[in-house]
Amino acid sequence: MPNFAIVLAAGKGTRMRTKLPKCAFPILKKPMIEYIVENIEDSDIDRAIAVVGHERKVIMDLLGNRVEYAVQEDQLGTGHAALMTKPLLENEEGTTLILLGDMPLISQTIIEKILHTHHKTANDLTVVTSTFDDPEGYGRILRDDYGRIQAIREDKNATDEEKRINEINTGIYAVKNELLFQMLSKIEKDSLKKEYYLTDIVELMKDDYNVGTFTIRNPKHVMGVNDLVDVSEAEKILRDEINRGLMLSGVSMINPETITIGHNVKIEGNVTINPNTTITGSSKIAEGAVIGPNTEIHNGIIHENVHVKHSLIYDSEVHERTTIGPFAHLRNHANIGRDNRVGNFVEIKKSSTGANTKMSHLAYIGDTECGSGVNFGSGSVTVNYDGVNKHKTYIGDDVFIGCNTNLIAPIRIEDNVFIAAGSTVTKDIPKGALAIARGHQINKEDYAKNLIKPKPKNNGENS
Ligand code: UD1
Ligand code: CA
Repeated sequence: MPNFAIVLAAGKGTRMRTKLPKCAFPILKKPMIEYIVENIEDSDIDRAIAVVGHERKVIMDLLGNRVEYAVQEDQLGTGHAALMTKPLLENEEGTTLILLGDMPLISQTIIEKILHTHHKTANDLTVVTSTFDDPEGYGRILRDDYGRIQAIREDKNATDEEKRINEINTGIYAVKNELLFQMLSKIEKDSLKKEYYLTDIVELMKDDYNVGTFTIRNPKHVMGVNDLVDVSEAEKILRDEINRGLMLSGVSMINPETITIGHNVKIEGNVTINPNTTITGSSKIAEGAVIGPNTEIHNGIIHENVHVKHSLIYDSEVHERTTIGPFAHLRNHANIGRDNRVGNFVEIKKSSTGANTKMSHLAYIGDTECGSGVNFGSGSVTVNYDGVNKHKTYIGDDVFIGCNTNLIAPIRIEDNVFIAAGSTVTKDIPKGALAIARGHQINKEDYAKNLIKPKPKNNGENS
């Protein structure tokens, strides 16, 4: 029998007070809903439907065709949101897992366990619960004297006594699909909140069907994110878990509480990460690398034994043993060869270098294909932009570029060229040439005295 998943993501997230719709808001730089969809993709689920509404384009742009969509025009509550999937799912036989779009810490293991329990117990409805020290804001699980679930009471509707119950509704349910839409259409508007509560499904089914619960032991994994304080808590939980896993796998972290590693980052053993470092996106860090302090890497591929400190690397690759920083900026598909040296205040954009190339200080390299053994003097600039278009620079192997050189693109510098310091190079340079492209120096003997006037004598008064 197939399994289906519904993710409710149509709500405004009013409590967030952010412009982005809640489910698109990032946790460790990745939109919340992507965590959920990723887990669904990794699980035994045949079709996934996201219910979207408020700012739906943002969510749909994020998820593309990874899920099917049902639209909830007006946000009339979670029960109403789930009902919007009726045209897509009502004729299916199987199990439907309903998830909320604001619980990013859920894992594939949890999803698999829920489905397994639901099937094993032959429940018609399994409500996933957990026990929270501070259950405020969550729906509470009401049970009878035999421990059977009777209802879910929303925080707003709960009596003082019910509010003391610590067992909460995580917002995840597994339900027999043939019954789901029948039940959803029976849900009535709550008189207090004027919403259709999905949670009412328990009371609707408990007498005639098998309704059970599955309890998640670690409450952290099922926290709901409703405001920006919750965002920071979710980030902390995720960060601590990721860092712990990495440290146990041989990644050394100095002050791990200041280190943020994204969910999809891969780091090999024998890597050292120094304080205040953030590595996110689909970055990969190979063995022996030393990263940080004060470094940000997003979608960076860092090869063996590279050292990066006080630097920014975005969408770029750095090969073996190269050192980056302090204060370097690699972006937009910079591809730096092995044994390079990229030093202080060097920016490299959409450029590649071969092995053993050095740009040790103060350089801008953009739209450049550069060979091996090249030395960029301090202050070298590839002048790639003419105010309208970007142009390419080609530099061969073993080229020496003197300090303060401008290479006006488009331009080709062939192998073994030597460019004199201070040159503004506008023409291609053939192999092996020495290029000097600067004004000639004139020394006027004994002339400086005409320019350097003696200072007036200070007779003790303030001038
Ligand atoms: C919900 C549950 C509560 C549970 C808690 C767990 C209900 C009535 N309450 O409360 O029992 O303890 O989650 O975190 O279900 N959404 C829509 N359309 C709507 C309303 C909401 O798609 O009309 C989506 C939201 O985008 C969100 C999710 O449903 O992703 C949950 O909505 P939210 O308002 O956060 O519910 P809670 O008050 O947290
Ligand atoms: Ca919520």
